[in-house]
Amino acid sequence: MISQFQESLILPRTFQSVAMDTTYEDVLEHIDSGIMLFDEDGVLTFANKQMFGILELPRLAIMGCTITHLLANIQLNRFKKKQMLRGYREMVQKGKPNYEFADEYGRYWRVSLHSGEQMKGSYLFTFKEISDYKLIEQTAYQNDSLAMLGKLSASIAHEIRNPLTAIRGFIQLLHPHLHQLGKEEYAKIILAEIDRANDIIHEFLTSSKPSAPQIGLVPVAALLKEVVLLTESEALMKGCQINLQPLQGDLIISGDAKQMKQVVLNMIRNAMEAITERGDDLVGKIEVGARRDGAEVRIFISDNGKGMDICTLDRLFNPFFTTKENGTGLGLSVSDRIIKNHGGCISVSSRVNEGTRFVISLPLIQ
Ligand SMILES: Nc1ncnc2c1ncn2[C@@H]1O[C@H](COP(=O)(O)OP(=O)(O)OP(=O)(O)O)[C@@H](O)[C@H]1O
Ligand SMILES: [Mg+2]
Repeated sequence: MISQFQESLILPRTFQSVAMDTTYEDVLEHIDSGIMLFDEDGVLTFANKQMFGILELPRLAIMGCTITHLLANIQLNRFKKKQMLRGYREMVQKGKPNYEFADEYGRYWRVSLHSGEQMKGSYLFTFKEISDYKLIEQTAYQNDSLAMLGKLSASIAHEIRNPLTAIRGFIQLLHPHLHQLGKEEYAKIILAEIDRANDIIHEFLTSSKPSAPQIGLVPVAALLKEVVLLTESEALMKGCQINLQPLQGDLIISGDAKQMKQVVLNMIRNAMEAITERGDDLVGKIEVGARRDGAEVRIFISDNGKGMDICTLDRLFNPFFTTKENGTGLGLSVSDRIIKNHGGCISVSSRVNEGTRFVISLPLIQ
């Protein structure tokens, strides 16, 4: 049966619309999934309103077409053609019942194929949007990964901190003896190094699992000035300019200043790295600024770095997702968590080889 359908590379012809009770046809027009019905010759005999919306084609352009002609239709954009061809291979040729894809607008779809005896040789494709499920799935995955990372790092910290505390204690006990031997300097170095190791563990713990925010009033202008000051010299060394746009002094948010600094710092670092990775001779430019939008502030960090494709954009906030050799892939997942804890959100737009813009939205203190 499938091969007959596959072989149906026939020209468009006058088709007989499927005789269907108008009540049922009305129902099909009003359900939220897209529906396409092909007859046993592979000719499209029915498609509902949602389906034309998904394909972004007028009804007349495709009724009576075969899949081959649908794919050859110049009005169908290339992205959709590619996805339809893949779906066709997976479901019709390989016999899989479902096919999932993300469209050019970032929406997720599940396509299902119903065929067989009950369908009397016809092929019914249904297109259901599953963006919400994907979001829930992704959030659950992120939460799971962060929870796992939290547990793992806590147990590592426990295991490492205990022996460090013991070593620190014994060095302090040995201190007078080392002093007698004229080796007091050694004790100082050991103590300083143990403290440094403890700091690293502490840093790791706080960066992988944001602690409860220490809430205070944070003036956005001062926050951005401080972060730009911190990163300016590093940027210059990497051949980038950071331009801090004029800021309104009255933009004040309620939150943890240290965590907010961490978020903006992560984004400026990512921007510098994206510029370095682009590798052209062009001058790297990072724009940082903030503006009021109703009861919210929009803080933006944009760069003219290498940009991101849709696959990277999809996984950007996943813990451990990185495209860098030395990246941990935690910067943005932690930043996302911090901003959500502050009642805000992060949005991003990007174009490959043109640049990226991150926007952090946060509620303002009125
Ligand atoms: N401004 C940007 N331009 C292009 N790609 C970016 C940008 N910001 C983030 N990315 C992409 O998102 C990925 C995840 O970023 P994230 O900050 O979470 O981790 P990372 O930078 O790879 O590692 P690290 O943990 O050291 O920050 C990066 O590897 C990069 O591919
Ligand atoms: Mg990063």
